[in-house]
Amino acid sequence: MADFLHKMSLQNFFLFLVSFITLMIIIIQIIFPHGPKKKKLNLPPSPRKLPIIGNLHQISSHPHRSLHAISQKHGPIMLLHLGSVPTLVASSSEAAQEILKTQDLSFCSRPKFTIPGIITYGCRDITMSPYGEYWRQLKSIAVLHLLSNSRVKSFEKVREKEISRTIDILEKSCGSLVDLSALLLSLSNNIICTVVMGRTYDGSKLVNLLNEFLDLLIVFSVGSLVPWLGWMDRVTGVVGRAEKHAKEFDEFLEGLIEDHVNKKRSGGHQSSDDQEECLIGILLDLQKDNTVNFKIQRDSIKALILDIFAGGTDTIATTVEMAISELIRHPLTMKKLQQEVTEVAKGRPMIIDADLEKISFLTAVVKETLRLHPPAPLLTPRVSTQDVKLMGYDIPKGTQVFVNAWAIGRDPALWEDPNEFRPERFLNNSITYKGQQFNWLPFGAGRRECPGIQFAVVATELVLANIVYRYDLALPDGFKDEDLDMNETCGIVVRRAFPLMVIPSARF
Ligand code: HEM
Repeated sequence: MADFLHKMSLQNFFLFLVSFITLMIIIIQIIFPHGPKKKKLNLPPSPRKLPIIGNLHQISSHPHRSLHAISQKHGPIMLLHLGSVPTLVASSSEAAQEILKTQDLSFCSRPKFTIPGIITYGCRDITMSPYGEYWRQLKSIAVLHLLSNSRVKSFEKVREKEISRTIDILEKSCGSLVDLSALLLSLSNNIICTVVMGRTYDGSKLVNLLNEFLDLLIVFSVGSLVPWLGWMDRVTGVVGRAEKHAKEFDEFLEGLIEDHVNKKRSGGHQSSDDQEECLIGILLDLQKDNTVNFKIQRDSIKALILDIFAGGTDTIATTVEMAISELIRHPLTMKKLQQEVTEVAKGRPMIIDADLEKISFLTAVVKETLRLHPPAPLLTPRVSTQDVKLMGYDIPKGTQVFVNAWAIGRDPALWEDPNEFRPERFLNNSITYKGQQFNWLPFGAGRRECPGIQFAVVATELVLANIVYRYDLALPDGFKDEDLDMNETCGIVVRRAFPLMVIPSARF
């Protein structure tokens, strides 16, 4: 053979090579008519997609509603393409259980998004952080040191003080029209601020920063949908907007931490209310004392505070707002709740933490509100970290996953008259706030479950109980209770589209 090659001219050798390669290609094509054998995947059903945008044109400004409508046709597990990103949507309790419990480990990471990455210190907060040691350490700090039951209990005085301030505002507004949505947002914001930094924050800076933060989480970003077109986000200015916001929020958080350090140094931090250390203080102490087996960096402290502000403020406000809206639309249910809280209060001016366990109908009202109006209807997106077999389907590694908690909460196979507001259904069932069941998932479940459940539940129940205990709330003249507009905004936290305007009158 070597002799044969040696005797060939260069031209002949080239001809020989081309013929040899062509022959090999023909042979391969005969043996493997469809190319080298690829494993045939059994993917979930998919609606027809368009080039480049995939199924984006089928998603409205209320994605949970559009995805529910599509799932009615394609089933409880379906595969969509948001741009070029494969996206699994689970819309049944069984599918949710598989994803959030049975195969939680394969689905508990978060997808990488350009803009959320920029505004969360490169995903160094709990919510956006990919699954791994860093996330585990941060979450355990939140669960054990910031949001534990005893910590939540320790902030009882903060809640009482802020609720009583709101009661006073309503007292002064009796007989006139009040923007209850704005009042509830400010109350929720004051509770979170006092817990985080030991005082309320006057001025609109924080509210504006939080609004921009929530807007940026859902801003249209080409790079998150078609990664190879990511450069366009710079051209459209969205990256610049996110960087500017990240810088401003960082300066704000730095200011809060410095303020805390200076006050502590000068011994002026202990005001009458904060016998309990605020969360910034707790985090700085953990950092200084090295008590957790993990070196806490300054950015991690700021990212954690960001999580508490962003995770807590709007969610609590919107839950109370939706509960009151439903109660106004259902006057008999409102009466029943008012009767219960009045009996428990025994003439005292306020409902307090200790009363909550005696008010079972209140809990039922909050659970029913969260069933119909989960503030995060699609939870927070997850991503599969390996190839997974899910209910007979193949789910490739890197698939983005949405669990439609809103659709599951309204599934007629799980709930009788699912669109009716009927809190009684929660009086005799075993559903607890912590995600042990998969037909009611407002806080998610599994490793990524919301760590703020206890914090949120106590604040929500207490605010709601006190408002309905002290006031009757009427709609302005000409509006019928049952016609109250229940349209929603689009956003990462779904709120009322129109502010809840009411006329309070004192009950005693
Ligand atoms: C009614 C109030 C609230 C609702 C409905 C709610 C709901 C949720 C949901 C659905 C998730 C995603 C769960 C998942 O991916 O499976 C989540 C995560 C989270 N929530 Fe909440 N939340 C509320 C209040 C709070 C509060 C008060 C805080 C903090 C003070 C908080 C902090 C967080 C954090 C840090 C995460 C990220 C957890 C992780 O990725 O591991 N939330 N929440």
